[in-house]
Amino acid sequence: MTSLRIAVLPGDGIGPEVCAEAVRVLQALNLDLELHTADVGGRAIKTQGTALPESALRMAQDADAILFGAVGTPEFDKDPKASVRPEQAILGLRKALDLFANLRPVRTFDALTDASPLKPEIVRGVDLIILRELTAGAYFGKPQGQFGAPPERYAVDTTHYTEAEVRRLLIMGFELARARKKKLTQADKANVMATGRLWRAVAHELREEYPDVDYEDMYADACAMHLLRAPRHFDIIATENLFGDILSDEAAMLAGSMGMLPSASLGDTLNRHGYRRGLYEPIHGAAHDIAGQGVANPLAMILSAAMMLRWSFGMHAQAERVERAVEQALNDGYRCRDIATHGARVVGTREMTDAVIARL
Ligand code: IPM
Ligand code: MG
Repeated sequence: MTSLRIAVLPGDGIGPEVCAEAVRVLQALNLDLELHTADVGGRAIKTQGTALPESALRMAQDADAILFGAVGTPEFDKDPKASVRPEQAILGLRKALDLFANLRPVRTFDALTDASPLKPEIVRGVDLIILRELTAGAYFGKPQGQFGAPPERYAVDTTHYTEAEVRRLLIMGFELARARKKKLTQADKANVMATGRLWRAVAHELREEYPDVDYEDMYADACAMHLLRAPRHFDIIATENLFGDILSDEAAMLAGSMGMLPSASLGDTLNRHGYRRGLYEPIHGAAHDIAGQGVANPLAMILSAAMMLRWSFGMHAQAERVERAVEQALNDGYRCRDIATHGARVVGTREMTDAVIARL
């Protein structure tokens, strides 16, 4: 059997802590792992002057899958014109590996309905996926930058989409919907933006090929509202890069905490196992305020590793084993600080992982 060659890129803040726990869970499954680790983000800027060193990029390109922690360091946020930033690590990887489809599943575990700031009757049974375009739009459009001098500074971002970029993401959306609850919502701002009208036009062409999928258009702002009002309405929400970034943080609160949401970023390239090469990361970010204290919730990272087993290695049974162990640990009352309600049994990063491993 070919080994599972995984590039582990822990990054900054709580990234290294949660990455180490996901690796422990993978090791507990007795898989033939081949792990390679490299520094990226603020950490790499300090030692190597760049957020995504050439050697780390090559390691990612050679791997079957990538486990990514988080990047971002407050000290780099001070200079608006800084040309070297920690976030360039993740943006660079997405672009270089053409990981155009970002899957962010939002599922409310029964045990956590109380952890959400929303009413239990609203969040109970939520099971949706935000499918975010990841390699174009305002994140990569040119021109981009800040120009001029005070008091006449100005800044420009460009939202740019080609038909091909929109189509491949929407095809992924229709296919995902077909394999699930057969419902696809496309969120755009077609009432204001030309790119939104292109998304809508391409979606309307494609829907003819998927008559079994219940398709709807929705303005992204209305989508933000309906996500809180009636989240069970949704199955797959397909949307452009920037809206997907915002809607997925919002949707995280349906699951109780940002510390619960995994993600998979997929391209069309196949790995040595014949599955899509992908990058797997929690959506929560570096969270420097709690870094190094051993209190970070490792579940989003552990659930990201489960997504990796499913999407990049076709190991569906193993993926479900991890997901069930997470659910069982929650059912048994284990809570990290971010999802703890009154009277809960609060545990740290390591103990939470131990609880999951014990239930595999
Ligand atoms: C995310 C993050 C990133 C993004 C940042 C860290 C660049 O917020 O993955 O959602 O904006 O895409
Ligand atoms: Mg985000």
